[in-house]
Amino acid sequence: MAEGSQLIRGLEGVVAAETKLCDLDGANGRLAYGGYNIDDLARQATFEEVCYLLWHGELPKAAQLDRITTELIAAREIPPALLDAFRLMPKDTDPMRVLQAATAMLGMRDPDATDNAHAANLRKAVRLTSQMATAICAHHRVRSGQAPIPPAPDLSHAANFLYMLSGDRPSAVTVKAFDACLTLYAEHELNASTTTTRVITSTQADMHSAVAGGVGALKGTLHGGAGEAVMRTLMEIDEVGNVDRFADRALAEKRRLMGFGHRVYRAGDPRAAILRGMAEEACRQSGQFKWYEMAVKLHDRIGKAKGLIPNVDFYSAPLFYSLGIPVDLFTPVIAAGRIAGWTANIIEQHDDNRLIRPRAEYVGPPARAWVARGRR
Ligand SMILES: CC(C)(COP(=O)(O)OP(=O)(O)OC[C@H]1O[C@@H](n2cnc3c(N)ncnc32)[C@H](O)[C@@H]1OP(=O)(O)O)[C@@H](O)C(=O)NCCC(=O)NCCS
Repeated sequence: MAEGSQLIRGLEGVVAAETKLCDLDGANGRLAYGGYNIDDLARQATFEEVCYLLWHGELPKAAQLDRITTELIAAREIPPALLDAFRLMPKDTDPMRVLQAATAMLGMRDPDATDNAHAANLRKAVRLTSQMATAICAHHRVRSGQAPIPPAPDLSHAANFLYMLSGDRPSAVTVKAFDACLTLYAEHELNASTTTTRVITSTQADMHSAVAGGVGALKGTLHGGAGEAVMRTLMEIDEVGNVDRFADRALAEKRRLMGFGHRVYRAGDPRAAILRGMAEEACRQSGQFKWYEMAVKLHDRIGKAKGLIPNVDFYSAPLFYSLGIPVDLFTPVIAAGRIAGWTANIIEQHDDNRLIRPRAEYVGPPARAWVARGRR
């Protein structure tokens, strides 16, 4: 290890980049993109506006919003070769593995594939945002033995996603909830997957390579995979009356409870508070209020017993479930939102790059004499 440096496990508290994208105040539980509070964005902005804000640093004026919306719609088609690839993949392959492969394949067909210039990166950010959404839905259709649904150019990004998944045009209430979810997941500073995209970018690798790495990092249960794990926990509990018994056992076993705790937020995750209200509404609408009731009871029990806060992935689980998202698509849906932030971070990193290369402290055996093969 370099002289004078200190081992910081998990890089906790290390500041590794300057950013204009996201202001995360963990002590006070506040989050803002480009200076705009997450509460205002989730309630009032569309995902298209949030994409523009992250990519250009300002909320779009009317003509700019028209242009970005048109560009996103025009970019929704995916290459037929990708659909062929989905048909060849094992039906039981998990959708995040498929999304990682699909991202790499989209890079093979992108006209700006290896161009890391600012303008080319903006074009790729638009294409990847739209194409990833289409790829997630098309793969789900193919693995379910159904024909992929072509994107509908008259629908917003959020509405079109839900339409491509089920073939039904979603209600305005459902679209608003899903759109707000995409916004809430769009950006979150140097979380593990965004850091991964920045590390890859810092070597001068291209955007698709960096995003494919980000997808891999997001998959783990300590990161984006937690949402799916929360829903599986709620399914394991099954009834509100079982929450106490489950919580007692989980606490006694010192089980790691998915959807609780956060590396940065100490006073609460502001996204969880917004999602809680949305989950309550969506679970009521879907006629499956028990998922919300179970989540609230579990939140209460675990909060009182361990002081742990629910994070973004806790209430998004019953919410996604009520919106009809298949449980193993929760993490791909998070990726469909986070792509906005990944691409914005990649652009920021390319525009002011320094290779990201930390050091390790060597704790192996001391220097040893070579031992010839026959003498070991
Ligand atoms: C997110 C997370 C990885 C952050 O962890 P971290 O900053 O590395 O914190 P640690 O894992 O060091 O945990 C600190 C303490 O809180 C406890 N803790 C943290 N999260 C916990 C959880 N979800 N369940 C049970 N205990 C938890 C740890 O056991 C540890 O206790 P100890 O000091 O007595 O050993 C962690 O909270 C976690 O694993 N959460 C569940 C997965 C999840 O929801 N991820 C999505 C994040 S948005």
